[in-house]
Amino acid sequence: MIQFEDVVIKYGDFTAMHDFTMVINEGEFFTLLGPSGCGKTTILRSLAGFVDVSSGAIKVNGQIINDVPTEKRNIGIVFQSYALFPTMNVYDNIAFGLKVKKLGKNEIRDLVLEITRKVELGEEQLYKNVSELSGGQQQRVAIARAMILKPGILCLDEPLSNLDAKLRGQLRHELKILQRDLGITTIYVTHDQEEALTLSDRIAVFNKGHLEQVGTPFEIYNESNSSFVCDFIGDINTCTGRTIDSINGQSEKKFDRDKPAYLRIERILTGTANPGPKYVKLRGSVIDREYNGIFTKYFYDVDGEILKGLERNIGAEPGAVGDAVDLFINPEDIKQF
Ligand SMILES: Nc1ncnc2c1ncn2[C@@H]1O[C@H](COP(=O)(O)OP(=O)(O)OP(=O)(O)O)[C@@H](O)[C@H]1O
Ligand SMILES: [Mg+2]
Repeated sequence: MIQFEDVVIKYGDFTAMHDFTMVINEGEFFTLLGPSGCGKTTILRSLAGFVDVSSGAIKVNGQIINDVPTEKRNIGIVFQSYALFPTMNVYDNIAFGLKVKKLGKNEIRDLVLEITRKVELGEEQLYKNVSELSGGQQQRVAIARAMILKPGILCLDEPLSNLDAKLRGQLRHELKILQRDLGITTIYVTHDQEEALTLSDRIAVFNKGHLEQVGTPFEIYNESNSSFVCDFIGDINTCTGRTIDSINGQSEKKFDRDKPAYLRIERILTGTANPGPKYVKLRGSVIDREYNGIFTKYFYDVDGEILKGLERNIGAEPGAVGDAVDLFINPEDIKQF
């Protein structure tokens, strides 16, 4: 178990992380999510011992590690930039940590082959120079190099962000399976909300050095506890003024018309019949749409306000620009803070 207790991290006069408290459980896949500059890498650095905490305590299995030197923390790190040794071949990159530990040649060889298989790197890659590998292969080497030391904690700092979308999706899935098989406590850093939702047991969302929310992907998405989390995770409608009046007028709800009201785009239903007694109806017209294969995202003009909706593409195209549509909304799905 990893505990951050009232931790503050500063670079000189600048406070990169304000007082935060957070627990990461044994074997958990825990993601730090937030926009660029919010402090994700800073937290990893503090855990690994590359930056000191200004106040508070970091504990691993109940022991305060604030003053434990980096090399004694038993933490593996994979950086966004791979940070492989460019003059060494793949084998030597992966074996590096074991050589430092002065393990025997044969033992090192067995362990390198074992981890190479786990990260699905072909044996024929082992004697290539790292510069001859693709981005995805280099990333596998970086993961193998960290994993081979059997760290108690694995930290991955945006490991997939340099890869193309398809490979990112594939490696993401493999990483999750590997992590599950090894049961290693993993802290994963990303600013990609989809990656966070698909991979994590739990997610911590950060905003400008503040911890906004910790929860399961379901909780973060469906029970966002602030405007920031609502906006940052997924696609969302921000309803204002007249739309709020119309919803208030048709329901028992009394949303504040002067504050944004949030509604997930897939919660807007369309059709000819009201889907249920709780739903209110808004009249809209299609002003634009984005086809993405499985879904089409629609942009509706509702009395001057633009709302977005999502339709599954099953067979016929659901609508065209200019079509008038009835939009059904359950006021229970709306959040205001
Ligand atoms: N060595 C440093 N000295 C001074 N300020 C720093 C240092 N490293 C980071 N910062 C600042 O601390 C804040 C958090 O940086 P950090 O690298 O943790 O962000 P991040 O969430 O990892 O961002 P990104 O997604 O861009 O990697 C930023 O405002 C950054 O400018
Ligand atoms: Mg970073």
